[in-house]
Parts: sequence; structure tokens; C-alpha cells
Amino acid sequence: MKYSTFIEKMTTEEKAAFLSGKGEWDTRDLPRLGIPSIFCSDGPHGIRKQAGAGDHLGLNESLPATCFPTAATVANSWDEKLGEDIGQALGEEAEALGVDILLGPGLNIKRSPLCGRNFEYFSEDPYLAGKMAASYIRGIQSYNVYACPKHFAVNSQEQRRMAMNSVVDERTLREIYLTGFEIAVKEGHAKAIMSSYNEVNGVYANENKHLLKEILRDEWKFDGIVVTDWGGSNSHVEGVKAGSNLEMPAPGFDSAREIVEAIENGSLSVEELDKSVDDLLDAVVTLRMVEKKKEFDKNKHHDLARKAATESIVLLKNEDKILPLKAGTKVALIGDFAVEPRYQGAGSSIVNPTKVETMEEVIKGYNVSLCGLSRGYLRTGEEDKALKKEALDIAKDADVIIYCFGLDEISESEGLDRNHMKIPQNQIDLLQSIMSVNKKIVGVISAGSAIEMPWNNCCQAILHGYLTGQAGASALLDIITGKVNPSGKLNETYPILHEDTPAFNQFPSAERNSEFREGIYVGYRYYDTSNVKVQYPFGFGLSYTEFKYSNLVVNKEGITLTITNKGAFDGAEIVQMYVGLDNAIVFRPKKELKGFKKVFIKAGESKTVSIAFDDKTFRYWNVVTNKWEVEKGRYNIMVGSNVNNILLKDTIEIEGTTNVYPYKSELIPSYYKGNVQKISDEEFERVLGTKIPDGKWSGELNRNDAICQMYYAKSSLARFLYKRLTAMKEKSEEKGKPDLNILFIYNMPFRAMAKMTRGAVSMEMVDGMVSAVNGHFFKGVGKIIFGFFSNSYKNKKYTKKLESTGSIEKQAIKVWVEENKGEWNKKMD
Ligand code: BGC
Repeated sequence: MKYSTFIEKMTTEEKAAFLSGKGEWDTRDLPRLGIPSIFCSDGPHGIRKQAGAGDHLGLNESLPATCFPTAATVANSWDEKLGEDIGQALGEEAEALGVDILLGPGLNIKRSPLCGRNFEYFSEDPYLAGKMAASYIRGIQSYNVYACPKHFAVNSQEQRRMAMNSVVDERTLREIYLTGFEIAVKEGHAKAIMSSYNEVNGVYANENKHLLKEILRDEWKFDGIVVTDWGGSNSHVEGVKAGSNLEMPAPGFDSAREIVEAIENGSLSVEELDKSVDDLLDAVVTLRMVEKKKEFDKNKHHDLARKAATESIVLLKNEDKILPLKAGTKVALIGDFAVEPRYQGAGSSIVNPTKVETMEEVIKGYNVSLCGLSRGYLRTGEEDKALKKEALDIAKDADVIIYCFGLDEISESEGLDRNHMKIPQNQIDLLQSIMSVNKKIVGVISAGSAIEMPWNNCCQAILHGYLTGQAGASALLDIITGKVNPSGKLNETYPILHEDTPAFNQFPSAERNSEFREGIYVGYRYYDTSNVKVQYPFGFGLSYTEFKYSNLVVNKEGITLTITNKGAFDGAEIVQMYVGLDNAIVFRPKKELKGFKKVFIKAGESKTVSIAFDDKTFRYWNVVTNKWEVEKGRYNIMVGSNVNNILLKDTIEIEGTTNVYPYKSELIPSYYKGNVQKISDEEFERVLGTKIPDGKWSGELNRNDAICQMYYAKSSLARFLYKRLTAMKEKSEEKGKPDLNILFIYNMPFRAMAKMTRGAVSMEMVDGMVSAVNGHFFKGVGKIIFGFFSNSYKNKKYTKKLESTGSIEKQAIKVWVEENKGEWNKKMD
């Protein structure tokens, strides 16, 4: 431990209090020891520093900051250099706004297109997600700011996210849900990580020794701090034992008292507590005892946001080369999104941008002739005949219609999962009507996650902007007019129908358990292996030019090949390397992404591209030997422009690492075929290695059940409250803007009340409420009243104890650091 001689000066009460937040965003300072607090802020695509009253859902405005495209957008660039540039800009803004820990990037796997937070995540593929996340982290941490990748782990569902259990087999856990985090930690050197709300195989992520200790700290050598998601801590005693450090946001002294008690009764050792304090002290010293930058260049960052969007926008279709538009083209601009862009998602990641561009405004600066503008449809989904007529009138006379449409705010948000993958029908009705008067339609989509596209043939060209950030409008027009050649490629598959998705029968889970029966077959790993036709495959994206792939050479180190730009436009290509093994003994997807490179090539020129193999190229997780192993065999090395378009192929013989194989193919035939939509209990249990846990709610509610489960309540008052809350939630959904507060309360467990109220509510009071909900009204109310007085008394006592502990040197930590610097440096040498 680095700070052991300093920690000796701390009382148990100080140590325990230090490990939880003081307010919504800041950690607890300890004035006696000169320990300052550190400040955390969202978010992943821009800083959300709330200067006034803090709330973790972005309801109160934050200080202006650059709103970059969201992770789901930038992942389409497949460009780690760009990720690092964005990370640096985020780090610089965080420093300038006084933020020490930036709560991002988010890199949960897009298990299903329905997850409401997919717009905040990078990919359905862990390799791409990990590489992009690592690049952001390196950029952010090049300033005096910690990145805090989230949500660790297996947090791919929003519904009841704080009260659910991800039931997943160890191999799927490792290969799909942890590999991205492994890359983020090992290659990004993340100094903080956020544990997720959910349980993983029955143990809360924040208390999960397997995740936090065995994997994160022991295997990956993570030496930073683990921070709980907001209100996500269950027992911080268990958290500390498992290797977690900081409970956020504001549990008052309740958790601290539990830690002190655990030390007194021996259930938590002083070593365990000190280790946790040591990590956090290191963060405080590193982050707060340095000079910080005071400002950032808004215009420069706006330009970077524009560059990021241009590199990430995906051209999905371009019939008859309608794009790029020729100079002077007569354009009708139609769609509500052209006037009021949807450029970021809703929830804790929401940024108050320094400025926002709209297509309506910026189109004036391009060499096209705007012959009309109409909002065309209502964002709220209702039909508006007058708007429709206006749109059709201008569409008739245009050379080309730019039709801006997509998912509205309520469709994708933190706190809720979608229940279908469709774009609002009124937008599609208008598209079809426009088509009947003029077929020259360029569809411009805004949506942070995959959608069904049965209307695909209504557009001659489709440009998918995802959520482009504040400079999205000029980025889109740069591409539409050919100023920039599109190069983005999809970070996720676009299935034809939601029914085609691998987790269709599992997602989202309705009860406590979410069973990951589809296993490793997430996204393209499923569609490709099971030959399911898709609308647009993983890795797909068009360019205004054409690239030829040739000269593949495969050797032990990796591959090299030549890419030639055969067209008339300069442009960038994203070369993708997939690996597979025919007739494998251990079942596996037909292809898996194991490397990629983005190269810019001038028209008519060629470049040699090299992609190195790494420790992940051939490995699989063996559940019997309990380690990464390599199966012996002749592997297919496939290089292409997307997963379904393999242009070069070779094989390489690879030595195996073990003869111990984990599965019997005849017992789990569906996994061997990749037919995973309907996995039987037996097959799932064989892969899981245990019985499927019973996730059905039974008996009485407890503090870990979600508020929305009050439909089970014995108390009629509680059921009434549940109905009121549901009605309020539905009403807010009808309005088209999600009410994040209601969503949060709806999905949170009872215990979170004690974790987020700065000491106003204790766990004892929560237990009283739960008792009342279960129909023991008088007992429950009695407990609440007693708990209230007892909590106030104990809070005062704790504060007094902290204040009355004998004073030591002023600025003690600063003095101690100065005196001990030499020692550490020696140790580090
Ligand atoms: C979200 C986190 C976020 C935190 C603070 C939580 O509800 O899951 O991603 O960082 O709130 O706003």
C-alpha cells in the first residue's frame, strides 16, 4: 500500500466515511486531514457538469460543453485516433470545468437492438467496443482527469436495471461481455471503473469478487478505483470486501456506520478497509494536487465534433449514384429533424451544447438551391394533414428531396427499453406519400440504435447519421454534397425484423433473471453462423469510391494486404479481419472480428495494410481448464469490407494449448449449430454449468425489489401508488419526452432511497416502508418513525465524532505526500 503510514493517522470513522459520496457528484472531504473531495460528472460524449443543484438524470441544466456524437455514432468510424482526439477534448473540457472523474465511456454490449441505452454504447462486438473505449480513455487521461468506463458488467438491459440478475455462462461472460472491458483496462489503462446496477449470476456487480477481485484486479492488474453506479450499491461492506472503493452518490452516514460495525464485529478486516482507502486516496492525491487547465477552445472542439460526425456517418444506399449532389441541385428539405435535430440521447449523458447546428440553417452555406422547407410530420406521431400537404407541394418540384427522419426522444432513453424497432408510422406514411410525387429521395436518419427498415426501397439513397452531436448538420451536408467522402461502417447489424434477433425470446426479462441463453451468439455472430438474412450486415457502409482488395499474405504475426482506391474520389476504407475455424471441437461463431484498420487512400493509389494478430485472435474461454485456450487447427483468416463481404481468404495452422475440451456436441446441438433463439432449459443448463436459478418473485417484497413490483404488494395503498406511478409514466411517454425521474423511481429498488438522499433516509426506514408495502402497516410505519429519529441521532453522533477527532497537522495529506514522494518514486523504479 502506498499510503499506509498516512492511513494509520485516520480513524475507522474517517476511513468509512471517506468511501462514500457527500453529494450528487462529489466525494466526502475530510478537513481534519486536508483531504479534498473529488468531483465526478457524466458523460461519455460531453461534459455534464451541473453547477447548481445536482441530479443524476440531467434534469437541471449543466454548464455548456461540446456535445460530440454519441459512442454508437463514433464507433462507426472504427477510428482509434479519432477516439483519442475526442477523449483528449473531453479531458480538456473536464479539466477546465473542474471535473476530476469523467463517468464514461459506456461500453456495454448491444445484446439486443431494443436496449434503450444502445446509443451510449459502442458495439455488438467486444473487440471493436474495447478498442474504441480504450482510445477514449487514453485521450481523457492525457489530462488530469480519470476516465470511468461503465457499466461493469453485463448491463445490457434498462428495464428494471437496478433490480435484475444477468444469468450468463462463464464463457459468454468472458468472450462477449468482458473482453471490451479487458481491452479498456489493459490498453486504455483506465484509472476508474463503474460497477453496474445488476447482479451477475446472483451477486451484485459491486460485490462480485469474481468480477472485481479475481478478474479486474488480479488478472487484468487494474490498480484504480471502482465506483458504484448511482444508487447501485447494495451493501458497501460486501463491496469493499470485493474490491470496490467508492459508493455514490450520497448514502449519508448509513453505509459508513455499516462499515464501522463490520470492522468492530470482524466481518470486514482492517486490511480490506485500508486497501480500499489507499486506492481512493491515491485518486484524490493524483487528481487534486495538480494544476488544472482553466479553459478550452469552443470553436476548435465544435470543429472536432463535426469531423467526428463526418467520419462516422454511414452511407447505406446510393442508387444511381444520386449522392453526392451536383452543384446547384434544387433541394426540398423535409422533416422535423431538419429543423430540430435529434443529435444526442436522453438520460444521464445529456449535454448542454455550446451551440447546435440545424440543417435548415447550415444548408444555406452549401452549393445547392433550397426550393422549400417543411417539417412534414409531427414528432409526437400524430397525423398532420396541413404539414403533409406542405411537404408534398415542395417535394413535387425538387430535383432531390432530403428527408430527415428517425427515432424520436421517447424511443430511446436511459431507463427504458424499446418494445419494437420501428420508426414512428407517421414518418413512414409521409415518406411513402413523397415517393408517389417524386422518387428522388435521400433519406437522412437520426437514431442511436438499429431500426427495422421495411421502407428501405422508398429511398434512393440512405445516409445514417446516428446521433451526430452538435455539429451534425454540417457533417451531414458535407457528405451529401461530396465535400467529404463517407467512410463510416455499422458497429451493429441491422436485422430485417426484430423477430430475427438472437435474444428475441429473452429480452428484456420480465422477472428478476435475465437469462443469456443465446450465449456467445450476439449480433453478427448469430446471423452469420445461422445464415439469417439481414437488412445491413455488421461492418457495412458505402463510399463514393471503390476499393479493391488484393495480395493477402498471412503469417504467424498477422496479415498484410493491398488496398487500391479504384474510383474517382479520395476516401477511407475500413478493412476488417475475421477469424473462424471450420468443424471446431469447441463450438464457435463462423466469423469473429479480430482486427481492423482504417486507411485513407487517394484516388488511383494503393496502400499496404497490416493487421497484427494479438492474444485475442485465436483464444476461447475454456470452462474446464478455467483459462483462455487455443484450439489446434487450420484457421480461416477472412478479410473483407463487412462481415458478409469477405474479399480475401487464407488459412493458417495454429498449435493448440490443451486437449481438454469443455463440451459434448451431442448434448448441446443448438449451440453447435448456432440456432440459439429457442434454447431449451437442458441445453442452457449444460452450458451454464449449473441449474437455472429461480428468478420468479415469491412471497413478500424486500428492499431489493423494484418499486414497480408494488403490483405484488399486499397493501392496497402501495398498489394504488404503483398504479399512480404507472399512469404518470404512461402519460409522460404519450407526451413524447421521457420523464427520467419517473422512469428512475419506477425501476429502482426500495433500498436506493437510502443510497441517494444524503442521510435523510436510512436502511431501517426503508425496511419500514417495505414492511408497510407488504401489508404490515402499523409495524412498518412504527419502524419508519423510529428509524427517522434514530437515524437523525446517529447522523449527528457520527458528524460530531468526525469533527471532534483531535486535529493533526493542517494540510496533513499534502505534507505527507511531500515527505514521502521520494519513497514512492524509489518503489516505482
Ligand atoms: C447511470 C450512469 C451515470 C450515473 C450518474 C446512472 O443512472 O447509469 O451511467 O453515470 O447515473 O449520472
